[in-house]
Amino acid sequence: MSGPADTGEAAARASSAGGSFPLAAFLSRWADCAVQDLAASDSQTLPLSTLLRYAGAEDLRRWHGVGLGYADPRGAPWLRSAIAGRYEALGTSGVLACNGAQEAMACVLRAALRPDDHAIVVVPIYGPSELAVTSLCATSGVALDPDRSWSLDLHRVAAAIRPNTRLVLANFPNSPTGASLDRAALDGLVALCRRHGLWLVNDEVYGRTDARGGAAPVVDRYERGVSVDGLSKGFGLPGLRVGWAACRDEGLLDRAMAQKSLLSSCLSGPSEVLAHIALGMEGRITALSRSIGRRNHRRLRALLDRFPDLFEADAPANLAFAFPRFRGAGGAVRFAEALARQAGLLVPPSTLWRSPLAQVPDDRLRIGLGRLGSGPALAALEAHLIRSAPSRGGAACTG
Ligand SMILES: Cc1ncc(COP(=O)(O)O)c(C=O)c1O
Repeated sequence: MSGPADTGEAAARASSAGGSFPLAAFLSRWADCAVQDLAASDSQTLPLSTLLRYAGAEDLRRWHGVGLGYADPRGAPWLRSAIAGRYEALGTSGVLACNGAQEAMACVLRAALRPDDHAIVVVPIYGPSELAVTSLCATSGVALDPDRSWSLDLHRVAAAIRPNTRLVLANFPNSPTGASLDRAALDGLVALCRRHGLWLVNDEVYGRTDARGGAAPVVDRYERGVSVDGLSKGFGLPGLRVGWAACRDEGLLDRAMAQKSLLSSCLSGPSEVLAHIALGMEGRITALSRSIGRRNHRRLRALLDRFPDLFEADAPANLAFAFPRFRGAGGAVRFAEALARQAGLLVPPSTLWRSPLAQVPDDRLRIGLGRLGSGPALAALEAHLIRSAPSRGGAACTG
């Protein structure tokens, strides 16, 4: 395990200059031979007809009258009000609606960080978020600890703080590890950030599928907390491209808005209406996403338990994906490549979350479990395992 990886700074800057996003490169490399997908971390999507069936009279009126001109740059007030209502004590002005969670993240980071600042990133994290920070200022990484259920060691965060540290960036519930913060850990992180006057920006897109229900949003616990969230994951609606940043500091949101105006003028009007309908159905959609994930986790567990020499399965941490250790002799990367090449099945290895900032174990696979149609993909995984390890004796696949 590495601690705060100050020595990773130069490498981080070099990698951000290239702008590489290994997960996207992996998906695009194997896209042509993919017939089954266990790579996706978004939950089962809903068709337009289902959303409209559950729409109330007001939303149906909006839907039939929706304009296709430029919309409110911060998001329609009724959409921001519905988003704000999900948090404690947050008004409409505490929400900036964006085209997906990642746009919200990029705008907040650009608004909060200057070139002579320093930031701390909890690793592993979604590649574009890490690159957004390392392209803006000096950055240190603090790794989640694989030997302690991916917990965050606050002493390591404290040790990484410098006089010019401005921000801590995290992704809890985390992808790919599934780690989440319990109440005490979140309180400890907030107390540390408060003591040093740091922004705490948390990507919360996997909150709805957290197996234990998820911690409180950071915006509810901390006056300088920024919760980034959206409809792409647990809602299963990435095609709407609706995300947001929620924050009690209106000055930061104003600066984030200024950054957003450099990227996109507004959200799509139809997406705003559909997002409002989806938010009104959150309980129903989340229950569906969680029950699909739970069923797929059970199926995966039954399968992996038959190959104990190849896999060490964890208890479900996030219902949208699993992150088991692969013990085969050839390693997780070769296994994933053989799976793609021979079975047309995409399963990203943990090396795709590798970071120059801190160590990420290279012996894991992130298996997406949010979709209704995962049965055939899991059957393809089983067939591949039987083919490549007929004796179950642990012979690794060769790519
Ligand atoms: C942790 C995390 N944050 C953000 C995103 C991007 O979300 P969106 O599609 O809403 O921009 C992803 C997508 O995979 C993700 O895994």
